Amino acid sequence: MPGWVLGLESTAHTLSFGAVTADGAALPACIDTLRPTEGGIHPRVAADHHRDVAGGLLDDLLSKHDLDLADLEAVAYSQGPGLGACLQVGAGIARALAVRHDVPLVGVNHCVAHIEIGRAECACDDPVLLYVSGGNTQVITRLDGRYRVLGETLDIGIGNMLDKFARRFGHPFPGGPVIEKEAARYLQGNPDARLAELELPFAVRGMDMAFSGVLTAATTMVERGVPFEAVCWSLQEHAFAACVEVAERAMAHAGKSELLLGGGVACNQRLRDMCSMMAEERMGTSHVPARYYCIDNGTMIARLGWLEHHAGRSTRLAGSAVDPQLRTDATPIIW
Ligand code: ATP
Ligand code: FE2
Repeated sequence: MPGWVLGLESTAHTLSFGAVTADGAALPACIDTLRPTEGGIHPRVAADHHRDVAGGLLDDLLSKHDLDLADLEAVAYSQGPGLGACLQVGAGIARALAVRHDVPLVGVNHCVAHIEIGRAECACDDPVLLYVSGGNTQVITRLDGRYRVLGETLDIGIGNMLDKFARRFGHPFPGGPVIEKEAARYLQGNPDARLAELELPFAVRGMDMAFSGVLTAATTMVERGVPFEAVCWSLQEHAFAACVEVAERAMAHAGKSELLLGGGVACNQRLRDMCSMMAEERMGTSHVPARYYCIDNGTMIARLGWLEHHAGRSTRLAGSAVDPQLRTDATPIIW
């Protein structure tokens, strides 16, 4: 397939290779995620994992979609934000492939890539993105030629909060899906639970959010004997309501009618339902890409690389260093 673009994702515990065709159509990625059996991720351990699995994973992508490296048109990679040691592995592989095949290198912004794969897959034009992942919780929209962060977490990402809560009670990473199952089970057995939400601290701070207080309060509740599944349900309701509230205000403030979900926590059905309800009440629409495009994946990097490449932007080797703190609004929208 001539003219395809490769995308490398390596911001945190996931290494992924994805691709888009010459006309920008997404090809599902090959993804390998490090899942520590205990504790959080150690950046150096994750980087070693990425190095170990990279060769096999790239081979998988080539054979899955019948792609040939000789037909490559450009190589895109996550330049930031993320864990430095992990980003460097992806950047190193991307540089080597670009030089070896004599094609342009395109360093892209991971957060912007979540928006662009969502826009492409859901056919929405000018959304407010609710980006809810392990490390990030941001409400983003396009204003004056950049994606601006209108609200974000002041402490930990919402996914991290869910993972920490689950891990404390013996459930290894990823904790989000476990909490979703426990919450659903609790609601099934207690149809009136909606009337008796447990009291947790308010997570909204103006247009921002903060989740560590909710985490501490929820953890203490279980330690004092409140059933785990009951707390899972209230924790979800509480944390998701905070995100939906900030997203709604962003839509009102920026005058936008489309809401787009992205990030691993967007796999959660309850969050999806809450977002649909909010958008409908505002006479707007809520969009979610397929689950494998919500989690970190190489295809979203390839898609943004394709857009930037076709708009004439490439990254010189001298400017290809990773930036763990790269801001969403650092990328001018030239496509
Ligand atoms: P980023 O680098 O963008 O911060 P990440 O490395 O945290 O992303 P993602 O793949 O976007 O990775 O998301 C992983 C997170 O998504 C984990 O915190 C996980 O618990 C959460 N998650 C996955 N599925 C669900 C679910 N069904 N409900 C809630 N959370 C979920
Ligand atoms: Fe992400």
